[in-house]
Amino acid sequence: MARTRRTTMLHLVLTLYILSVSGQNTLSNLGHSAAIHGFLGCLSADIPSGLIQTPATPSYSALLLSTARNLRYILPDTSKPVGIIAAAEHAHVQTTVRCGRRHGVRVRVRSGGHDYEGLSYASVHLHNEPFAVLDLAALRAIHVDPARAEAWAESGATVGELYYAVGAASRSLGFPAGSCPTMGIGGHLSGGGFGSLARKYGLSADNVLDALVVDADGRLMNRSSMGEELFWAICGGGGESFGVVLSWKVRLVPVPETVTVLSITRSRSQGAVELITKWQEVAPVLPQEVYLRVLVLNQQANFQAMFLGRCGGLHRLMQYRFPELGMTEQDCEEVSWVQSTVFFGFSTTSMPPEQLLNRSSNPSYYLKAKSDHVQDPIARDVWESIWAGWLDKPEAALLMLDPYGGLMSSISPSETPFPHRRGNLYQIQYYSFWYDNGTAAAEKRMSWVRGLYNEMEPYVSSNPRAVYVNYRDLDLGTNELDGNVTSYHKATVWGHKYFKGNFKRLAAVKTMVDPHDFFRNEQSIPPLPRCQNDTL
Ligand SMILES: Cc1cc2nc3c(=O)[nH]c(=O)nc-3n(C[C@H](O)[C@H](O)[C@H](O)COP(=O)(O)OP(=O)(O)OC[C@H]3O[C@@H](n4cnc5c(N)ncnc54)[C@H](O)[C@@H]3O)c2cc1C
Ligand SMILES: *[C@@H]1O[C@H](CO)[C@@H](O)[C@H](O)[C@H]1NC(C)=O
Ligand SMILES: *[C@@H]1O[C@H](CO)[C@@H](O)[C@H](O)[C@H]1NC(C)=O
Ligand SMILES: *[C@@H]1O[C@H](CO)[C@@H](O)[C@H](O)[C@H]1NC(C)=O
Ligand SMILES: *[C@@H]1O[C@H](CO)[C@@H](O)[C@H](O)[C@H]1NC(C)=O
Repeated sequence: MARTRRTTMLHLVLTLYILSVSGQNTLSNLGHSAAIHGFLGCLSADIPSGLIQTPATPSYSALLLSTARNLRYILPDTSKPVGIIAAAEHAHVQTTVRCGRRHGVRVRVRSGGHDYEGLSYASVHLHNEPFAVLDLAALRAIHVDPARAEAWAESGATVGELYYAVGAASRSLGFPAGSCPTMGIGGHLSGGGFGSLARKYGLSADNVLDALVVDADGRLMNRSSMGEELFWAICGGGGESFGVVLSWKVRLVPVPETVTVLSITRSRSQGAVELITKWQEVAPVLPQEVYLRVLVLNQQANFQAMFLGRCGGLHRLMQYRFPELGMTEQDCEEVSWVQSTVFFGFSTTSMPPEQLLNRSSNPSYYLKAKSDHVQDPIARDVWESIWAGWLDKPEAALLMLDPYGGLMSSISPSETPFPHRRGNLYQIQYYSFWYDNGTAAAEKRMSWVRGLYNEMEPYVSSNPRAVYVNYRDLDLGTNELDGNVTSYHKATVWGHKYFKGNFKRLAAVKTMVDPHDFFRNEQSIPPLPRCQNDTL
């Protein structure tokens, strides 16, 4: 009874919605309307209507915005999902995938919504295909087993929630992942996961032990049933392409009960340019227990470090390896490992670890970022001219310099899909964010980022100009169709930049697990061309 009433209500809402979207009387719209109607009806057989929002239901906009980190992809001219499914059980994910396949509605998966190009909730120019968003935010259980130094975390949990749970279970365990606490586990682990423990323990993706995945046929699999090739692909091959990862079993790593964080800020007149020049040669070869990054904002260079040891030890090391920085013991602070994640998340240690549980990223902002890998130190006069010619502009972006080296250099480039290992000194990000919704502001910011990126070309990696997939950049190229599937040939343009020699192996996995290319977006992995004579 209740079910019938609910279903009838949903159909009424759907019909109203379809009337509203099919205003233009084109064939394609009619085709889409039928697909959308079929899809939503199919969902309603298994998923409570309260978990399905369409543009006609009251909570649609709030849910769409809830974790949309980049407001550029919420503007009126971006195409919106035909529905958002707030999965509350694994079976809801399976149903959504099956109904999407059956009715020709694509599914974009969203865990934390931090994708730089909004690919988890917006479609920029992918052939106007109707798509739904499968929102995993409610699937966020975490179980830590401190005795085995392992944890299971669902994809909708945030990185901050995982840090908090690990810290609450043990003061001597940590997990290597990135700095922003509101990132979703799902997207972050799918693309790699780089942060303050990377030089000692590698990426998040290097520390995944098992996973639960729903494939393009709606089947639920773990590591032993999915096989090692698919498992390899999901641990660093980027989100979306291979299936929906529901949860991850990860290895926790030993950390001292007391670690040290450091923050030192230097302006140009205090030698910031010389310090960055020297930093390039020091940071990548420091002991793996030290992570020393630089943030450049408002014409100031902020050196931030974590040391798996005490303040005195870091001080001695810096006096010996980087005396120019002028570190004193007042610059550092001894904290628990979980408190060090608060430091990297909020640039202060004075917030309680409970702040890691705050899932809100509001106020969100408009965002455009690009990134590079640096393999040879950049000369001082180049830094000088960047500082003078670019950083003094009001629209200048935040620069983030993140050191590699340590364990990152000893992991083979084919161990996971993430290929940027030995030979890279550091990564640089040009990360622009702004709050003004006008197009003039956006154009100014974006052309600054693109202009500096062009200027940097002679000084960074080339052939390919390598990029980390979690720092998604659609300027690198977007997918085109070849028949009914994504063109492999076209995708190599951006694919080699993210994955180098691993790209073809990722495409081979795609061919095996999703040959019809159901899971696709502007930069998803394509299947291999059917005819092997095609240019590879
Ligand atoms: C403020 C900020 C700070 C950041 N800092 C760091 C950092 O320190 N280190 C670092 O390495 N990265 C960092 N990133 C990048 C971040 O790792 C990526 O944006 C990551 O993909 C975010 O994951 P998400 O779940 O929040 O993203 P989402 O937008 O939800 O997803 C990203 C992509 O993965 C897909 N996807 C999401 N969940 C799943 C799933 N369960 N199964 C399959 N596919 C899925 C989506 O469809 C989308 O294509 C940062 C990003 C931001 C915005
Ligand atoms: C994986 O699933 C199979 C059955 O599908 C089960 O027998 C096995 O125990 C599972 N493995 C793990 C590690 O959970
Ligand atoms: C949660 O974070 C948001 C965004 O940073 C902030 O505005 C809000 O005040 C925080 N909430 C609490 C309870 O601290
Ligand atoms: C931009 O912001 C202003 C002020 O908040 C608002 O009035 C306007 O509608 C917004 N424009 C768009 C396109 O969102
Ligand atoms: C592409 O898909 C359409 C509709 O699903 C189908 O009619 C067509 O035959 C397919 N084309 C190819 C080349 O597979």
